[in-house]
This record gives sequence, C-alpha cells and structure tokens, in this order.
Amino acid sequence: MRSSPDIVIHTEGLTKRYQKLLALDHLNLDVQRGEIFGYLGPNGAGKTTTIRMLLDFIRPTSGKALVLGMDAQVQSVALHRQIGNLPGELSLWNQMTGWELTRYLGGLRGGVDERYVGELAERLDMDMSRKVKACSSGMKRKLGLIQALMHKPDLLILDEPTNGLDPLVQQTFHKLMREVAAEGRTVFMSSHNLPEVEATCDRVGILREGRLRAVERISDLKQVRFRWMTLRIQGEAAPAQFEALPGVSDVTQYNGTLRFRVTGELDPVIKAAAQHHVVDMTYEEPTLEEIFLEYYGEGQS
Ligand SMILES: Nc1ncnc2c1ncn2[C@@H]1O[C@H](COP(=O)(O)OP(=O)(O)OP(=O)(O)O)[C@@H](O)[C@H]1O
Ligand SMILES: [Mg+2]
Repeated sequence: MRSSPDIVIHTEGLTKRYQKLLALDHLNLDVQRGEIFGYLGPNGAGKTTTIRMLLDFIRPTSGKALVLGMDAQVQSVALHRQIGNLPGELSLWNQMTGWELTRYLGGLRGGVDERYVGELAERLDMDMSRKVKACSSGMKRKLGLIQALMHKPDLLILDEPTNGLDPLVQQTFHKLMREVAAEGRTVFMSSHNLPEVEATCDRVGILREGRLRAVERISDLKQVRFRWMTLRIQGEAAPAQFEALPGVSDVTQYNGTLRFRVTGELDPVIKAAAQHHVVDMTYEEPTLEEIFLEYYGEGQS
C-alpha cells in the first residue's frame, strides 16, 4: 500500500469489530497535508476507535492505516515521535508539575524547546508549576494540548480537544490550529460539535454507526443553498403573501416580523417586500447543522 507524500493519513478498509459490534466498518479515508480535518459523529460512532488504530493502541480486525507514509501497525514507535496526540481520556502523572511532565515527555521525544512550551502555556493561560493532581479537568486538558503541540509534530491527532475548555481557551485553540496548518502541518480532530468544526476545520468527515457517511469541504457546505430571511414591515405583515412565493418556506410571524427560508433566487421576495414599508431586513446563512439535516436528512434523524 502506497500513498503520496501529500496524504498524511490513508486508510483502506480499516475495520474494528468487538464481537458482534462493528465499531468501525471499512473506513477509506485520506487526510491531506496542511489541512485541519474534523472527524464528526455522535457518541459511539467509532471516532475514538479510529484514532486508537491510527496510533496503534488497538489493532484493526482488518484493513490498514498509513500515517505519515508509515504503516501505523509496523512503524508505530517511529510514528509516535512525529505525532502529537491528545487522547479523549488523558491520564497524566499526578505527582508531577506541568513543567516536570513536559520535560519528561520532551526527553522521550528527544528534547523540546522550553521557550515554546512556556509560550504555549502563556497563550493557554496554564500554570505549569501546579501539580497535575491539583489541576482542574480543564487545566489537565490544556496540559494535554501543550504536550501534544510542544514538539511541533507534523501531525496532530486530537480526540475531542476542546472538551471542557472555556470559550476563551477554545478561541486560542482555534488560532493555534490555524497556525499549525499554516506551517504545512496537519490536524486530525474528533468532535461532536458542529459549530466548532465549522469554525476550525477545512474538511469534515461524518461518521455514524462505524460508517463514514460523508466527507465534505466546509467551504462547499457553506455555499449556501438556502438562507433565512427576517423582514420587519411597518403595518400589517402578510405571511400568506410570502408563503405563496417560489422558493419561500417555513414562514413564521412574530411581532410584525416575518421570518422564512429562501431557496434559489431572491427576486420574488425582494419584489414582494417592495410593496411594503420595510423597516429592516436581515439575512442569515444556515448553520452547518441545518445544511447537514437538509442533505443527509434521512441518516441524521
Ligand atoms: N473495548 C471495547 N469493547 C467493546 N466495545 C467497544 C470497545 N471500545 C469501544 N467499543 C464500542 O465501539 C463503538 C465505538 O466506540 P468509540 O469509542 O469509537 O465511539 P466515539 O465515536 O469515540 O464516541 P464518543 O463520542 O462517545 O467518544 C461503541 O459502540 C463502543 O461501545
Ligand atoms: Mg470517543
């Protein structure tokens, strides 16, 4: 099995079965160098199972994974030096401080730049002199991120990285990931959270019940196929008039404000609105969630 240097993760028929349960079913996936790939799916979809096989923490029932051009099963020791990994459930040495931990792990990876560790700690607002056992779960998560990032790995594999982080730290995380990608390094991250993936990732794969249902570019998904329009009209608003227009659906009225979905051309809506005194008009893109519900509706219920 070969893959080009621009393909950082390549899986072929990657499958994991636990007795009767098919946790991952013939996953064929390519992740490109320099992209931030969001791996999305509900609880139990198989995200962590995939990640564990990429890192050789568990063995596939069948199929193969190439990571950074190396066989994930055969060359896992070499691979681990080039990967930054944040597991979903992180276990750290309780008696160590943040500094001791990063020095220890850094030593295993052939040394790290302590100035960079300090910089990461400052940006993530992490107190590195605190012992792990005295850290809150969010602080442990931050420490986990620091150790994943500190040796500037070519590939970051992160299992629900922002789980438990406050919004400010999440923003810092997003910025850090964009910087990683801008340096031509690659991020593979799992998440439940569509808005997060929408804000951070270049592409998203949707996993359900062990099967990859869709892989889409976020920018393609956001090429809006419908929009929400809100129209505030002075005097009597007429929902029925808008309901009758081509491409308009889901009309609701509240306090003289009409809200509806528009698919396709706007012209009929603009012309109908022009017959009234329009106080305000706003226009929202649908969320990624709404787009998914629309396009993969049958699988998403
Ligand atoms: N060691 C195991 N033995 C048996 N079944 C397992 C084992 N590990 C995982 N599973 C099952 O495999 C399926 C996939 O689990 P996995 O942890 O990959 O899901 P996930 O997508 O990471 O979910 P979550 O969002 O909850 O973290 C689940 O049905 C889970 O119960
Ligand atoms: Mg998981």
